[in-house]
Order: sequence, then structure tokens, then C-alpha cells
Amino acid sequence: MEIYSPSDDSYLLSETLKSYLKNKHKNIKILDMGSGSGIQAQTCKDSGFKNVLCADINSEAIKHLKKQGFNSIKSNLFLNIDKKNKFDLIIFNPPYLPEDEKEPEDSKINTTAGKRGYEIVLKFLKQAKSHLNNNGSILLLFSSFSQPAIIKKQAEDSGYKIKEVSDKKLFFEELFVYEFRI
Ligand SMILES: C[S@@+](CC[C@H](N)C(=O)[O-])C[C@H]1O[C@@H](n2cnc3c(N)ncnc32)[C@H](O)[C@@H]1O
Repeated sequence: MEIYSPSDDSYLLSETLKSYLKNKHKNIKILDMGSGSGIQAQTCKDSGFKNVLCADINSEAIKHLKKQGFNSIKSNLFLNIDKKNKFDLIIFNPPYLPEDEKEPEDSKINTTAGKRGYEIVLKFLKQAKSHLNNNGSILLLFSSFSQPAIIKKQAEDSGYKIKEVSDKKLFFEELFVYEFRI
């Protein structure tokens, strides 16, 4: 499976993360979900944060992350992450687009959230709750194609407090980074 090459979404999240980390203690425990190339984990490392776990469903990405020295685990969302393992910050740049039949199977793992563009995001938010420490937070990216109104409503209905942290208008879509807290 193809490892996702950093793109506009990756750079928006990485820049947002860099500023977000300025107010955090260096010893917080971070999970980089869907780590891919490791760009977000590298941003944490470059900002002096060492306690980072990378997770990805793609074995190739895990091999690549391990070669770079990142503590990494192959996992479909939180499936292989111990129930007792809790984090102060969870970062996720997920696959966030609705299914496109013309897209090659190999890249769908990086881009396709499900038929409607938000399925994996909702699944992630549901599972992430029990992996957050008290006062922990999530930085999650999604797009105008992910049906943001549905994501926000479902998240709020399930008890999350949400806040937009950054956004970027592209020619054909808008990207958003939101903070989610319990
Ligand atoms: C848009 S890419 C982001 C990669 C990288 N974090 C970045 O910011 O460039 C989405 C990543 O999520 C991973 N992924 C897709 N489905 C997943 C799942 N169910 N569980 C864990 N990771 C998943 C993909 O393999 C890919 O690395």
C-alpha cells in the first residue's frame, strides 16, 4: 500500500500542531493516528516532544516509521492500542473524502473515509474518547467534502466540546483543523 506523501492537509495540520504545542508540557503523551510518512510525529519531535506513539493501518507506513526511529504500532484505529493506554493529545489527519469509484484501490486507504466522507472520522471520535487523559485533547483535520456539519453535530451530541483551530481555503475545497475535548 502506498504511503501518503505530505500534501496541503498534512502541512496545515503540521503548522497548526507546531503552534498548539507551544502551550504544552514537553512530557505529554501524544498519539499520532494515521501517521503515514510521520510528518506530524516529526513535528512533535522537532518541537521537543519525545513521548509519541505512531499508529497506522498500513504495514508499509509502519516499516517506514520504525526505520525513522518512531515508536509505532500497526492498528486499525484503536484496535491494537491497549485499553489502558491514554494520551494527552491525539492527532489525526484521516482519510476524509467520500468514495470515488475512479480512485485506485491503493490510494483509497489514504483518502477515502467511506461512502459519505465522514465515516472513519466518526468511528475515530467514538473510539478516541476512552483513550484521552483528563484534560486531554484531539487535533483532527477534515474537509468541506467530509460533511463538517454532520461531524460537528455528532461530536457535540456525543459529549465533545469542539473548537475550530485553523482552516485553509483551497481552489476547490476548504480544510479545517478542530480541537475536540471531553
Ligand atoms: C491523509 S493520510 C495522513 C498521513 C500523515 N499523517 C499526514 O498528515 O500526511 C491518512 C493516513 O491514515 C491511515 N489510515 C487509514 N485508515 C486507517 C485506519 N483505519 N486506522 C489507522 N490508520 C489509518 C493511512 O494509512 C494514512 O497513513
